Amino acid sequence: MPQHEQPPTNAAPRRVVVTGSAGFIGSHLAHALVRAGTTVIGVDRRDPATDPTAAANLAGLRGRPGYHHVTADLLHCAIDPLLIDAEAVFHLAGIPGVRPSWGPQFGDYLASNVLATHRVLEASTRIGVPRLVVASSSSVYGPTDGDASRETDRPNPASPYAVTKLAEEQLCLAYAERPVGPGVVALRYFTVYGPRQRADMFTHRALYAALAGQPLRLYGDGHQRRDFTYIDDVVAATIAAGVVPNAHGTINVGGGSNASLLDVINIANSLTGREIQLHQDHVRNGDVLLTRADPGRAKEVLGWQPRVDLHNGLRAHMQALTAPLPDYSRAA
Ligand code: NAD
Ligand code: UGA
Repeated sequence: MPQHEQPPTNAAPRRVVVTGSAGFIGSHLAHALVRAGTTVIGVDRRDPATDPTAAANLAGLRGRPGYHHVTADLLHCAIDPLLIDAEAVFHLAGIPGVRPSWGPQFGDYLASNVLATHRVLEASTRIGVPRLVVASSSSVYGPTDGDASRETDRPNPASPYAVTKLAEEQLCLAYAERPVGPGVVALRYFTVYGPRQRADMFTHRALYAALAGQPLRLYGDGHQRRDFTYIDDVVAATIAAGVVPNAHGTINVGGGSNASLLDVINIANSLTGREIQLHQDHVRNGDVLLTRADPGRAKEVLGWQPRVDLHNGLRAHMQALTAPLPDYSRAA
């Protein structure tokens, strides 16, 4: 088992659905579940036959008998047949990213993050899926005074994206209150990084800039701090949320690193032996200065805590960027 991989904290489920399985986090989750012996129905509107990112994300699942990919848009497709016999639905499909949500794309955010989630909830209720784990976001907290955010804090979303993620998790929790709805765990992920991270995200861009000797655009002065969370830790928390008996409600998933963007740049410089050239740009709307997770509930309810520190996580992320590309043409 590679250094950072964690086994699930409880027995793996027999059969599950992972939405957003062609994406960054969803593809890692699907890999981990298949490795643990679970049959995974992966649903994503990106088609690995035509979309290079989806193909790269799913390449490691090619030929694995436990993984079945369905290319479908959750806004329109028949969801019920996909859920039959599933012990859990891991609902990760959605439009991520704070900055583009101010633009004309907001309708897509609303559609995929709220309306598609409503369709998944209706189908899960009809089929009687016992557990739904939904990918929520640290962005629901908005600006903080520096204290760690607790699940009981009043949400204060600062971007259109964050508003849709709050609506999404609250919709799921409302369904969970009905006697017939699935049990729901809403995981508030804090800035996730690691191999196959989305190309719009900071960590990917910083490591890429260091490796390629290209300039990095820095929005603000680089003193923004994030509770960066390594992908394998996120996967372990997510699987635990699907299997731990009686888990419910919102739970923070934070890496415990609380580092600034300049800290990430310094580590990237030291890992590559190169100095990243910085191009300073203006602070983006809705960009919070600091995120920090209170880890208590994740530990208490899921028995989970992060294991990978920022330095080791960034090293693994960088190694993946320099590894040979998989053969996309034969991807699942
Ligand atoms: P990603 O873009 O890599 O993956 C999301 C996937 O969902 C994509 O493959 C996309 O095609 C799919 N999708 C979107 N709308 C769909 C629809 N209507 N039907 C079917 N598929 C659809 O993003 P990611 O970084 O892996 O994020 C996954 C989830 O986690 C998102 O819900 C995001 O809001 C949440 N999240 C991510 C982070 C992070 O740091 N990456 C942090 C907090 C929360
Ligand atoms: C990330 C994800 O993109 C969101 O989808 C997710 O919901 C959120 O984490 C979360 O934790 O909930 P963010 O923390 O903004 O959002 O992560 P990045 O997009 O990687 O940005 C981190 C910081 O780097 C921000 O301050 C941003 O302004 C800055 N940045 C980003 C740059 O300075 N330059 C860039 O090229 C990109």
